[in-house]
This record gives sequence, C-alpha cells and structure tokens, in this order.
Amino acid sequence: MPALLHLDASPRPDGASRRVSAEFATAWRAAHPDGTYTHRDLAGDPVPHIDAAQIAVMDRLETAGTRDLGAASAAARSPQETASWALTWELVEEVLAADVIVAGVPMHNFSVPSAFKAWFDRILIPPLVVDLETGTGPLAGKQVVIATARGGAYGPGTPRRSYDFQEPYLRAALGMVALADDLTFLHTELTKSAHVPRLAGFRPQARASLEQALEDARRQARRVTV
Ligand SMILES: Cc1cc2nc3c(=O)[nH]c(=O)nc-3n(C[C@H](O)[C@H](O)[C@H](O)COP(=O)(O)O)c2cc1C
Repeated sequence: MPALLHLDASPRPDGASRRVSAEFATAWRAAHPDGTYTHRDLAGDPVPHIDAAQIAVMDRLETAGTRDLGAASAAARSPQETASWALTWELVEEVLAADVIVAGVPMHNFSVPSAFKAWFDRILIPPLVVDLETGTGPLAGKQVVIATARGGAYGPGTPRRSYDFQEPYLRAALGMVALADDLTFLHTELTKSAHVPRLAGFRPQARASLEQALEDARRQARRVTV
C-alpha cells in the first residue's frame, strides 16, 4: 500500500504553495485509491524548535555511531530527552513510512520558512544521514516533490537569480538524508504581482507560472506507481 506524506509550510490558507501541493495530493490519491495519506500542516500546527534535550540524544548517537533505528528510538535518557525525542520520533516515523513526500514551501527571505526549518531540524537525526561508506541511507528511494511559491522570479537570466538560497539549500539539506535522489521542484513565481502595483505587468507570467506548476504537479503525481 503506497503512502503519501503531504507537508505544508505556508501561513496562508490560500497560499500558492498550498494550492500546488494540494493539486499533487489530490491527483496522487486519485491515482492510488488504496494508498495511505498523511497531511502535516507545519504552519498551522508548528513543530517545536529543536532543544538541548534532542541535541544531547543526537550527540550520543553520533558518539556511539548508532545507525540502527530501533536502538536510536530508545536512546533518550532523562525525562526532558524522552519528551523531546518522542516528538521527534513521531515525525521520523512519518517520513520513514512515506513512499512519496510532497511539500508546499513558500520562499521567505530567500530561503525556507522557519516552520519548515523547525521540522527539518528535528528529522535530520544521525541514523538517517547518508552513510559515507555505503553512500545511502534509510530514506533513499522516495519520490520528493517540493512546491515552492515566490513573490519574485529566480529563474535563469533573472536579476535575482543568485538570491535563490531556497532550492540550493533544500537540495543540499535533503541530500544529507538521501531525499534528493528523486527530487522535483515546482516553482510558482511572481505571486506578488497580484498586489504590488509596480509588478502588475507580470501578472500574465505569474498566471502561467502557477498553471505550469499545477500541470506539473498532476503529471508528477501520476508518474510513479509505488
Ligand atoms: C516573511 C516573508 C518573506 C518573503 N520573502 C520573499 C523573498 O525573499 N523573495 C520573494 O520572492 N518573495 C518573498 N516573499 C513573498 C512570498 O514568497 C510569496 O508571497 C509566496 O507566494 C508565498 O507562498 P504562499 O503563497 O504559498 O504563501 C516573502 C513573504 C513573506 C511573508
């Protein structure tokens, strides 16, 4: 039974990144009626920031070189560690269980929203990091689709091209845990043209960008039979 994990990180209920991630989820669920579906709203129900207790557990796992997930799940010692690690482990199990992950991720200040970063800081635990000896990790093989939304434009030839720290960051960070092997970005750009007068001339490009992202989301959702 294939499993889809759907994440959203836009604070806006009608955000473009949510629209595209939802389009993917709807098409995927139609194509996989026997599949399981989990939606986690990182903006509406924020994941608490990583704390000293989780870092203590992670340091212990690194010192011991623990890669076994069963041992890692039981690595907390103090009550604070147990509470923090339980929270993390719920997120880790969601990712482990997924065959496909779709995430709606707005561009905030040239990178990802803090709500998404808080989630990622929790799940990037030592046993999930790509093993330098084997070159792979427990999360390898998943299809990952990131639906971004940006107020401006960052494609090749645009003046702000070098300001896109979002896609390069996500490629590097997801790659650390083997989630970049089958990674697709769907960018919706120029969303600010809807309400910024000096950008009004870009509305046709903004509409085209959203339509393309929605079409690509449907295509990506039907692409793989897991
Ligand atoms: C806190 C904040 C920071 C933003 N920073 C950027 C930015 O660096 N570059 C940009 O092009 N747009 C920026 N925007 C605009 C958003 O990327 C744009 O509104 C996008 O559509 C947000 O995604 P959403 O529609 O899914 O909410 C920012 C918006 C907010 C609220």
